Amino acid sequence: MLKKTMQDALNAQMNAEIYSAYLYVSMSAYFESLNLKGFASWMRVQAQEEMMHAMKFYDYILERGGRVMMAAIDAPPTDWDSPLAVFTNTYEHEQKVTALIHTLVDLAVKEKDHATSNFLQWFVGEQVEEESSADAIVQQMKLAGEAPHALFMLDKEYGQRIFQPPTSSKE
Ligand code: FEO
Repeated sequence: MLKKTMQDALNAQMNAEIYSAYLYVSMSAYFESLNLKGFASWMRVQAQEEMMHAMKFYDYILERGGRVMMAAIDAPPTDWDSPLAVFTNTYEHEQKVTALIHTLVDLAVKEKDHATSNFLQWFVGEQVEEESSADAIVQQMKLAGEAPHALFMLDKEYGQRIFQPPTSSKE
């Protein structure tokens, strides 16, 4: 059975993951408004991944006999100054999520909740990937600079990304 402190913290992280999905859908809509369909598609996939993260918390809370509690989701921004600003925001957002996950791990250790600590390790690894992929796009966009054809090439390349659903809730 989950302790109340841990349950509340896991529910809060589920909310943060749904906010991330909401943020990335908003970024996708921004790219659609610029007719950058590849980046819009990349952001849709990113949003799907975030919902998958949220549902991992949902399933885990239930598995431990806890109570899932949905809460209000903050409104995300809707406009950015440029495509580069969107991916800079993405990178910074993922750094914040990493800090949240690390704080959760600290809490699980403090509460001697080894099962939760083990569950969270997947997210520790996932955040390394999330930060690295956002940072790579920021760096490539900086190299592309003001050259429109370079931006369109990146748009095409990143449009190839597809969502890979987990084959089980443990993945
Ligand atoms: Fe679920 Fe991008 O962190």
